[in-house]
Amino acid sequence: MKLIDGKATAEAIKAEIAATVEQMVAEGRKRPHLAAILVGHDGGSETYVANKVKACERCGFRSTLIRFEDTVEETQLLEAIARLNADADVDGFIVQLPLPRHISEQRVIQAIDYRKDVDGFHPVNVGRMSIGLPCFLPATPAGIVELLGRHGIPTKGAECVVLGRSNIVGKPVAQLLMQKHNPGDCTVTVCHSATRDLKEHTRRADIIIAALGQPGFVTADMVKPGAVIIDVGTTRVPDPSRKSGFRLCGDVDFENVAPICSWITPVPGGVGPMTICSLMQNTLLAARHEIY
Ligand code: GUN
Repeated sequence: MKLIDGKATAEAIKAEIAATVEQMVAEGRKRPHLAAILVGHDGGSETYVANKVKACERCGFRSTLIRFEDTVEETQLLEAIARLNADADVDGFIVQLPLPRHISEQRVIQAIDYRKDVDGFHPVNVGRMSIGLPCFLPATPAGIVELLGRHGIPTKGAECVVLGRSNIVGKPVAQLLMQKHNPGDCTVTVCHSATRDLKEHTRRADIIIAALGQPGFVTADMVKPGAVIIDVGTTRVPDPSRKSGFRLCGDVDFENVAPICSWITPVPGGVGPMTICSLMQNTLLAARHEIY
């Protein structure tokens, strides 16, 4: 078994981005600028956004964090988005999800100028991805594909089973892996809560992408020996022995699955750091107008 070190891979990519940014600055161009809107005080979202701000510093980007209380009205949020759309100084921005229930995530996402949608959630970017046009790729799927590529893991013709059908991970990663490029060219099956005989599917898989948000869901009896396991789970499980009061738990029973697979991502330190890296890559592309 070989461990896929997402943390080290992400560090290498951020160093590459930082070098590009310093070159841009030396040429008299401005630093890329990412803005983030954070609504409320959800622990997970606070951590993710803090990590995104930190990654911006590491890459030499400017960052702006705009905060709202969770009582904010949708119209106020849409006004903030309109201001960011119009602000030529901001290259790209994200609205951290989830949002409070009284706010429509789809209305918010669709209010973002797709040319600044560095999360790749706007229907224009989703549609362009699905037909293979240049676009901002969603961060987690792009990070997964980059991890496979940088580790030289063969995907052509591979049977790939995706567990989970979310708009953020399951659906887009399935699309990327079936596209005609490298890494890609997989035969993809997407499984979800209504799938019958789940184990029948997973036991055939050369690559399993676990993105359901159920700690320890993928057990050794579901895995073909030699398979590649990508664990996207990041459930926060209470753990009083930690300073933070919780630990991150993946969707894979790592202890029992790791010995039988060829490659596996740990949690934490696997897909998570790559996700933030993809956001930085998208922001750099936005600042350099390489897509739009
Ligand atoms: N919530 C969980 N993942 C993401 C992400 O990639 N982007 C945003 N904006 N919110 C998220």
